[in-house]
Amino acid sequence: MNDTLNALFLRRAVKLFEPVEISSEMREQILHAARQAPSSFNVQPYRMYWIGSAAKRAAVARLCLGQKPAETASALIVVVADIGSMSATTEAQLAWMRRNHFADGKIRDYQRTAKIGRILFMPGPLNMFAALKWVLFWLLNLSKVMGMPPLFRHDLFKWATKGTSLACENLMIAAEALGLNTCPMEGFDGRRLSQYLGLSSRFQEIVMVIAIGKKSHAYIETPQWRRPLEATVTVL
Ligand SMILES: Cc1cc2nc3c(=O)[nH]c(=O)nc-3n(C[C@H](O)[C@H](O)[C@H](O)COP(=O)(O)O)c2cc1C
Repeated sequence: MNDTLNALFLRRAVKLFEPVEISSEMREQILHAARQAPSSFNVQPYRMYWIGSAAKRAAVARLCLGQKPAETASALIVVVADIGSMSATTEAQLAWMRRNHFADGKIRDYQRTAKIGRILFMPGPLNMFAALKWVLFWLLNLSKVMGMPPLFRHDLFKWATKGTSLACENLMIAAEALGLNTCPMEGFDGRRLSQYLGLSSRFQEIVMVIAIGKKSHAYIETPQWRRPLEATVTVL
């Protein structure tokens, strides 16, 4: 089988790890692979916290409800959807385009798109700006085929979670390809873990924590089950 498909089919949520050192080179490779994932408007609306030191790992594992994969992993990656990073990201992309001598027209186009994006994606205090935009879009939609952008703060988090989750999957497949194993977890105390990492509740929400390490020899893997293809796919 092709190497990529092989890593994809081999990946399992591993619940018990044995201690191994993950080199900084390997860590970089895995994180680079994660952010290679596609994201809406290429905004990459996430931040990954790699928890490698023993003391911090133990603290985070406790906030992952003491789950075995968290307690035995070589590192824990807390993956956070970050809806406050959009302006900085678009500025960074503009600077990159200028450094790489993109044509003025292309830079202007991007500046325009980024500005529209900022206006669209700004919920305003108490979501008031979002409510106003929602009414406007709803009225426009009566006579025009159009999509509804993420307007309210919870829509923005949902939007950011899509790109963040794709980065998570990339991260897990990359780890598998490099001979490591992972376990994605949503069993954690989000409030305490956010506090521990100093996250802003307005802009940042933890999507999942990924335990990474080498599968323990003592771990007995359960058979993998998936719904039949016809239960999950409609071919039209
Ligand atoms: C978003 C998400 C949250 C999960 N949370 C946990 C968790 O908190 N603890 C855990 O042991 N496994 C967790 N899992 C792993 C699933 O149980 C596992 O992926 C599923 O049973 C399928 O098994 P497989 O990944 O080995 O194919 C989670 C998986 C996902 C995608």
